[in-house]
Amino acid sequence: MISNAIKEGINGTPNIPGDKSISHRSIIIPSISNGICEINNLLKSEDVLHTLNAFRSMGVKILEEDSKIIIYGKGLNSLKQPKDDIYLGNSGTSARLLTGLLSSQKFNSIITGDKSLSKRPMERISNPLSKMNAKIQTTNGSLPLKIKGNNLISCEIDLEIPSAQIKSGLLLASLNTKGETRITEYKVTRDHTETMLKAFGADIEIKKTDIKKVIKINGGKELKSKNIDVPNDLSSSAFFIVSALINHNSHVVLKKINNNPTRNGLINALKKMGAKISLLNKRITNDEEICDIEVTYSKLNGCDLGPEFADLMIDEYPILAVAASFANSPSIFRGLNELKVKESDRLKLILVNLKNCGVNCKVENNDLYIYPSEKYEIKNNVIQTDFDHRIAMSFAIMGTRIGPLEISESGSINTSFPTFKDELNRLGGNFF
Ligand code: S3P
Repeated sequence: MISNAIKEGINGTPNIPGDKSISHRSIIIPSISNGICEINNLLKSEDVLHTLNAFRSMGVKILEEDSKIIIYGKGLNSLKQPKDDIYLGNSGTSARLLTGLLSSQKFNSIITGDKSLSKRPMERISNPLSKMNAKIQTTNGSLPLKIKGNNLISCEIDLEIPSAQIKSGLLLASLNTKGETRITEYKVTRDHTETMLKAFGADIEIKKTDIKKVIKINGGKELKSKNIDVPNDLSSSAFFIVSALINHNSHVVLKKINNNPTRNGLINALKKMGAKISLLNKRITNDEEICDIEVTYSKLNGCDLGPEFADLMIDEYPILAVAASFANSPSIFRGLNELKVKESDRLKLILVNLKNCGVNCKVENNDLYIYPSEKYEIKNNVIQTDFDHRIAMSFAIMGTRIGPLEISESGSINTSFPTFKDELNRLGGNFF
């Protein structure tokens, strides 16, 4: 697809879809709870539909009525062995979370995925689970995974890699494990799983200090279902926030956006850069903070962000790098090693594609340096995405300012934001 430069700016209120992380959990947790859960505003993107189909294949009744999804949960031990391998497409979140859950079931299962997911590291989840006596065989460290259902043993685990996917996989494994499992994290990761488990009545206790967070969970307690209203996704909003910031004559308002403090590093980073962003109507739904976000075109300053920002906005660096390319001074974003093991090697693709767009930038010791200039001469307008949705959307936004850019393999956008193109064009973009 081609993303072309625009003159009139990006204006209006884009329809941002439901939060991807919360949508996955909204299927997984009610599927193993007792009772009926009505989910409003579930993200119906490819990644989430893979999670949904996985639970259908394990015998969970899941219906779609009007705009709602209804899940009929029958408790912790109600899942049935699927007839086929569980195929999870591009979705790392589904893979890590389900590995934890499946390792504590009474049946064996196999998880597979697409080309990109099959390259991603899975020992980061199978190794900590093996401390609980999980029996997981990887294929050279990646998918396919063969999981032998087992009675797990509760224990104490320190999260060596800061990852909500690993933490959540362990939490889901411990739900079905007798005794107290204790998980300690030393860096902040998104907390949607523990928040939802608490709301569903899990025997969970969370203690935070300045240096760590300890989650204790006593397995075996049945969960009770609740209805869920999924907030809209801040990570998907990020593309529209930056499109308004970098294009003259722009003003957007985004509604009902998830403003969870373990996720909203991008807002703080952009404000630090001088962005005109207002968070309005802050409120709480399903124990998650949400708000409306108003953004106006702004002349940004460069900034130096430490690795603590990476913990709070790891998915947003591709689009932040685009924003930084239009600042009036250089930026340094530090500690981006985890970016290399996302849907693609994002650190490499940010660099390659920014350079192709004419931006002077470099990576040293996993720190990204961006030296913006007044005007860019595109060297190669074909954007390499390696089927990564966030790289594709970030450079579609770059195209609104300097296009035309050709975004290769843009079908990946369907993994998280199927209506992205229509929404961008509705607000004044030129992506065809
Ligand atoms: C996610 C956690 C993050 C994030 C991913 C979604 C989740 O991964 O990058 O897009 O829903 O738990 P890590 O936890 O591995 O950092």
